[in-house]
Amino acid sequence: MRAAPPPPLAARPTPLSRLLGIALDALRTGAEERGGPLPAGGPEAVTARVRSVLGAVLPETGTGQDEALRTLVHLVAAGAADPAHPLCAAHLHTPPLAVAAAADLAAAALNPSMDSWDQAPAASALEAEVTAALAGEVFPAAGRPDALVTTGGTESNQLALLLARERHGPGLTVVTGANAHHSLRRAAWLLGLPEPVAVPTPSGVLDPEAAARTLAGTDGPVLLSATAGTTDEGLIDPLPQLADACAAHGADLHVDAAYGGPLLLGSAHRHLLAGLDRARTVTLDLHKLGWQPVAAGLLAVREAGDLAALAHTADYLNAGDDTEAGLPDLLGRSPRTTRRPDVLKAAVTLRALGRTGLGALVDLCLERAQDLADLVEKAPGLELRARPVLTTVLFRPAGAEDARVAGIRRALLADGRAVLGRAEADGRLWLKATLLNPHTTPDDLAQLITLVEGSSDR
Ligand SMILES: Cc1ncc(COP(=O)(O)O)c(C=O)c1O
Repeated sequence: MRAAPPPPLAARPTPLSRLLGIALDALRTGAEERGGPLPAGGPEAVTARVRSVLGAVLPETGTGQDEALRTLVHLVAAGAADPAHPLCAAHLHTPPLAVAAAADLAAAALNPSMDSWDQAPAASALEAEVTAALAGEVFPAAGRPDALVTTGGTESNQLALLLARERHGPGLTVVTGANAHHSLRRAAWLLGLPEPVAVPTPSGVLDPEAAARTLAGTDGPVLLSATAGTTDEGLIDPLPQLADACAAHGADLHVDAAYGGPLLLGSAHRHLLAGLDRARTVTLDLHKLGWQPVAAGLLAVREAGDLAALAHTADYLNAGDDTEAGLPDLLGRSPRTTRRPDVLKAAVTLRALGRTGLGALVDLCLERAQDLADLVEKAPGLELRARPVLTTVLFRPAGAEDARVAGIRRALLADGRAVLGRAEADGRLWLKATLLNPHTTPDDLAQLITLVEGSSDR
């Protein structure tokens, strides 16, 4: 018997476009079956459905590409937490722009690998241009800023600590606010550094005087990590005062702007990031307020020379004589080896929307957060934690026990009616809405409030 020809490769546009039609159709039918932001029934129902549809993971004889694609894309879409649904607002989980998803498909089809020039000639040149331009947005007055493409805020924060450890040695102390992202603690652990010193943040942001006292009381080199857009409350630490404290005590400043960083790209809210350019390193994430499919992280560095610490040689990727002969050495651009060209979707989005378009999307999300805060303030049975700064709104039924707040969130998840997050603040548990969908309307938010008000806990 003659063997069947191998399935077509993604770089061949005609079969890809036919398969893409099937995938898009399955995305539509899956979303129709779900009918809301989340599948109803909770983890047991979802797992049972996945097991029963999937059957054998590796069948003896394959079902064929059309069936496999249709069945499993439908299955995952029907069981998705859909960030494009206006009532899916728990996390910094963005609804990706269609243009970015299309660019990501092109990246997957071309499959450049960013660890050597001979696997990614134009993609690596594009990455160099885009990272230089974005680093210039973060550090407009720096002589030679640069940026690395990462898998997200976690990797960026880890790299920032790694670069600081390489500058200062293993005696480095990391100081954060208690409001800092958990990835900083984990990065310190991974890098063999002592656990970061956490300055309490009862108001939600780092108090510069408390930070300065901690810096003054710490021997040896220090990296202070501040946050521009806290995960729980969307607040921005007072960057200019923290930069002053660092300057006074000879400490380096890192700013985790994974959430708030894209405010730089528009003009209306850029002022909220004053002082960001005084950091040595800045974490940015375009898969949050940048509407990119995962992954789209960046670490911007004020001094490109800091990146020399990542230099690494593997003869088959960046032999010295190849580099001397002019082949770009890419291995020091990431601790990873094989690496997706995540820069393509970001470059397409920046070009397609421009400053004005991106700024307008940021503005819309910030406006929706104000709308939700207004609705909460008007609802007699609800309490608002504070007026939002970015796009995070914390609220709770007035006078409720924490267990009831947690139960309401779980009841909405179990019914698949709304996806809200949870955050501790002020010693109490709050429902958290993180609004990243520029298509969400005030009416959608009114529906969210009605659901919360009518929900019994679980
Ligand atoms: C402030 C902050 N930093 C870092 C991260 C980690 O980002 P990622 O999940 O992209 O690794 C998050 C994630 O929500 C975050 O909120």
